[in-house]
Amino acid sequence: MEKKLILGLETSCDETAAAVVANGTEILSNVVASQIKEHQKYGGVVPEVASRKHIEIVNNIVEKALQEAGCTFADLAAIAVTSGPGLVGALLVGVNCAKTLAYALNKPLVAVNHVLAHVAANYLVHEVTFPAVCLVVSGGHTSLLHLSSRSQAALLGGTRDDAAGEAFDKVARVLNLGYPGGPAIEKAAAKGDPRSFNFPRAFSGQDDMLEFSFSGLKSAVINTLHNLRQKGQSFIVADVAASFQEAVIDILVEKTVLAAAGKQVKTVLLAGGVAANSLLRERLELSLQKEGISLLVPPVSLCTDNAAMVAAAGWDLYISQKFAGLDLNATPVLDKIWQAD
Ligand code: KG4
Ligand code: ZN
Repeated sequence: MEKKLILGLETSCDETAAAVVANGTEILSNVVASQIKEHQKYGGVVPEVASRKHIEIVNNIVEKALQEAGCTFADLAAIAVTSGPGLVGALLVGVNCAKTLAYALNKPLVAVNHVLAHVAANYLVHEVTFPAVCLVVSGGHTSLLHLSSRSQAALLGGTRDDAAGEAFDKVARVLNLGYPGGPAIEKAAAKGDPRSFNFPRAFSGQDDMLEFSFSGLKSAVINTLHNLRQKGQSFIVADVAASFQEAVIDILVEKTVLAAAGKQVKTVLLAGGVAANSLLRERLELSLQKEGISLLVPPVSLCTDNAAMVAAAGWDLYISQKFAGLDLNATPVLDKIWQAD
């Protein structure tokens, strides 16, 4: 059978990305232009700046993705785009680009949930056996999902406030470690003692609770630093980073093992930018191993935002003909739409 090519587009935050994926699994190209440098001087993503940068380069990124895949617009079967959740102005750039292409080329358009796209990064590199549980941990999300198939996901629990990645970014900021905070905290933590500070682990030990909360942890770090500074006491940044990271990882691992055991799955997937954290990968793998559950994680380049994962998630919608209309809009909050159907 002839391969079907999906063009994926991703502009939900600070990466402008386009990719061509064949049959939902084979990456032909995966172009990511990060805006990190633009936002670094502000200590975080500035939504208006993100939208403007997306507009400037989105066409070039699409062209590059086609070039690297060795195909033309005519070879595409469909256009898949992240329509939410994310920054509304940023999302709109990708959505409008995708709608224009779909209209001009007379090709089907599919609207992808960004969180499900992170999950789908795993389908690009692993043969996944269902049912499975997936922990999606990114700058905007901390969600535990139960997956019955590639296209069926149910939310088991999410965060009540900050996302795990957001907590990394905020704590890095108060420690003057720069943006993005996750990699900076991980690097600093490698030289620190995780037992130096006992930061709170929200909902730990509550076996009927699969939700998360990271705002208390963030406040605890801020208050601890404030108190130490007020008293004129010095502290070791690496120790704070290590203790904070330990608290986040402890709770992510505890709740993921709980969800996997409760749902009696044999496979757990990890996804999202925070999945780039090597200690999280190690700890989770070890704890799941003890329960006879295996862990699948995409390579780092597919954990952080990219468009190959969008094309992979779009493939499932495409084969079940769940097309979007040309009236598609960006949806900044999509927390109720977990099912692809
Ligand atoms: O998935 P992603 O690229 O964008 C969103 O959809 O949010 O995730 C970005 C988040 C940021 O908060 C960043 O600090 C975090 O992932 N991150 C990490 C690491 N690398 C990226 N967090 C912890 N450890 C890392 N090594
Ligand atoms: Zn993301």
